[in-house]
Amino acid sequence: ASPWTVPQFSAAKQQGRKLTVLTAYDFTWAQLLDEIGIDAILVGDTLGMVVQGRNSTLRVTVDQMIYHAEMVVRAVKQALVIVDMPFMSFHVSPEQAMENAGRLIKETGAAAVKLEGGVNQAGTIAKLTGADVPVMAHVGLKPQSVLSIGGYKVQRAKQPLLDDALAAQEAGAFAIVLECVPREIAAEITATLTIPTIGIGAGPDCDGQVLVTNDMLGLTPGFTPKFLKKYADLRNTVETSVRNYIQETRDNSFPDDSHSFHE
Ligand code: KIV
Ligand code: NA
Repeated sequence: ASPWTVPQFSAAKQQGRKLTVLTAYDFTWAQLLDEIGIDAILVGDTLGMVVQGRNSTLRVTVDQMIYHAEMVVRAVKQALVIVDMPFMSFHVSPEQAMENAGRLIKETGAAAVKLEGGVNQAGTIAKLTGADVPVMAHVGLKPQSVLSIGGYKVQRAKQPLLDDALAAQEAGAFAIVLECVPREIAAEITATLTIPTIGIGAGPDCDGQVLVTNDMLGLTPGFTPKFLKKYADLRNTVETSVRNYIQETRDNSFPDDSHSFHE
């Protein structure tokens, strides 16, 4: 198969083909997800949490996004790679957004950028898409708005959600993330838009789903929002493996002769 393109990604909606998206932040994980057959890989600014150990995404920089996205792009052969624009990298002006989106694309080889916003960022989305930078929008719960929202909460105001989604589509976004919105509202937005909706905490009626890979594989202890399904308990797998290594090293059963060189 040839690599995913942005138009193919958008067209999947009309074909009734559900879109699968996961995050990756480095070569190892991007290569694995790509080989398994994920449709798109998001280099999310959630790296502020899962890689950097911070309690929000707010301090992530454009340079850090470039560092991670470049490693991801190098690993990927099929998936569409989308890079998040971090907090304050597009808020100052459409010109600032243009410069930073240009860097994110040119210095990594990613196919598209994602930014949080709808009505409030429509001008910026139009500016970017007008310059042939594909934009995925992100509405509903916008984690970069955590200070003004006062926490990570389900967004239930229907008309503003519909307005944001439509504004993003009209500004030229090729797809839209819906985060933490009631499933009924996500279903209505999905039925209204011509571009695909990618849900996280937005129910089953979206055109696709996205999760943070570390969360769905059970690598983020204590993070248990209702929308998250844990498909594995990798912490447990790692714990067992590392305990065995420590034990076998201490009792001298590792390495044995089969893991040793001979003269
Ligand atoms: O940064 C991220 O990983 C995201 C997804 C959760 C949609 O924005
Ligand atoms: Na993000």
